[in-house]
Amino acid sequence: MPEAGVDGIAAQFLCSAEALVDGGVGVRFTVDFDRRQMAAFAVRFDGAVHGYLNQCAHVPMELDWQEGQFFESSGLYLICATHGAMYEPDSGQCVGGPCRGASLTKLRIEEHDGKVFWVPEAPYRPAELAVGA
Ligand code: FES
Repeated sequence: MPEAGVDGIAAQFLCSAEALVDGGVGVRFTVDFDRRQMAAFAVRFDGAVHGYLNQCAHVPMELDWQEGQFFESSGLYLICATHGAMYEPDSGQCVGGPCRGASLTKLRIEEHDGKVFWVPEAPYRPAELAVGA
């Protein structure tokens, strides 16, 4: 089991490890930022899991038009469906397109015992814990 994240909030189970295939479909989830719900996602690349806010660094749009489709066809880069910004899957850095040099907002994702977790870190909290908090 991963350690707790922000304010001792437990790591949040996202999916089983096999649900995330290298360069394949990502898993979407929701985080709370200042009592606003924001979309986020996790993908696997080069064997490791990575997670980001689902918000392009160019214009704050979600990257995937088709749910969970974050990789471009080669499976080497994440791509924004709106204007084609390309991001390195492991760093989140934009390496091509209108926001070159900017980055996606990285979230802490961990894999333990065949399960994938988001470990909440400030300022992001689990959405369901944020109501009235
Ligand atoms: S909104 Fe993502 S590249 Fe423009």
